Amino acid sequence: MRFRDLWEEIAPIGRTDHGYLRYAWSGEDMALREWFAAQASRRGLFLEEDGNGNLFAWWGPRSGGAILTGSHFDSVPGGGGYDGPLGIVSGFLALDELRARGVRPARPIGVAAFVEEEGSRFGVACLGSRLLIGAIDPERALALRDRDGITLAEAMAGQGADPSGVRPRPDLVASIDAFVELHVEQGRALAEMGAPVGVGTDIWPHGRWRMVFTGEGNHAGTTPMDARRDPMLTYAYAVLAANKQARLLGGHATVGRVSARPNATNAVPAGVTGWLDARAADADALAGLVGAIRAKIEERAARDRVEFAMTEESTSRAVRFDAPLVESCVRAARRRLPEVPRLATAAGHDAGVLARHVPAAMLFVRNPTGVSHAPSEHATDADCAAGVSALADVLEELAAHR
Ligand code: GLV
Ligand code: MN
Ligand code: MN
Repeated sequence: MRFRDLWEEIAPIGRTDHGYLRYAWSGEDMALREWFAAQASRRGLFLEEDGNGNLFAWWGPRSGGAILTGSHFDSVPGGGGYDGPLGIVSGFLALDELRARGVRPARPIGVAAFVEEEGSRFGVACLGSRLLIGAIDPERALALRDRDGITLAEAMAGQGADPSGVRPRPDLVASIDAFVELHVEQGRALAEMGAPVGVGTDIWPHGRWRMVFTGEGNHAGTTPMDARRDPMLTYAYAVLAANKQARLLGGHATVGRVSARPNATNAVPAGVTGWLDARAADADALAGLVGAIRAKIEERAARDRVEFAMTEESTSRAVRFDAPLVESCVRAARRRLPEVPRLATAAGHDAGVLARHVPAAMLFVRNPTGVSHAPSEHATDADCAAGVSALADVLEELAAHR
């Protein structure tokens, strides 16, 4: 099957006038999950759900020494179509390619679809893979709320899934010998190097912090300027301070989400909540950056007579992918491609979470726009096909011997 033919089967799901909206446990997610099950059955694969919402389609029943690929279906609001689904579609197509080549793997090979990787609905990045490896307490996860106040437990139950099944699965993790996630590149490094496929080496540490600014709601017309306790001012300063400190200290800091209370044109707001996303090359640099931003905001909040609280929503440590596996991926992909660059990334991935327990690596597919988490995220069909073949080469090599 050609890349485009399989891609078109999911392309309409969650597409809006402003990019994709594919929240975990939404109707769109359920349609994508059904599609995943149909792909497994079309290929005679064994379908497994781990109790946390993560799906696996196994070629050969799962047993020790398995090789896993895959990615996630969920998107950020207004996201691109490739971030996540490309790795799942490519996984199924790579299995097809191996079968067409007549490969008989010595190990089970699986395709995974991890749930809530973006953390766009419940706030914690890579929630599904964290639950799988036991990196988050199930009770805490089930109590996380989305923007409408719906808990993860309620969202799962609302879609007919059993929240009581949410739990770490060390047995499943122990049966995986390697995980290779294929992903659209979220930058232009491959485009600049003229290479369709690269191999991931490292992920920057990163995290998310909820910043709550509390002032005093009041009338926009009658409250004198010097009598105000306006949290919007402190929030606005926080956005500028985050940007400035990241430039000064060399990391990345973004405030991409905000909500104001009561959100009325003619009222000084009573409260503002903003979410800080910060990333840096190592843990000390990240702590230094977040500490500097926090100190600036605290100073300003005191001057504005606004209360300020900052809480960590999720953090992801620095990841160095397994060096022998990275080299195996480069070697296998070079069978067909002259240049296979090694790349580090500042984007988070389930591969980074799994890397705590399982040798993991990533393949990146060239993105000519370099844009991600936005509608113009792109990869050409030819590059996606090159990614599938590279993934098939990698899986063939990894599954060749026990
Ligand atoms: C996920 O794509 C992230 O890096 O936040
Ligand atoms: Mn992704
Ligand atoms: Mn993403």
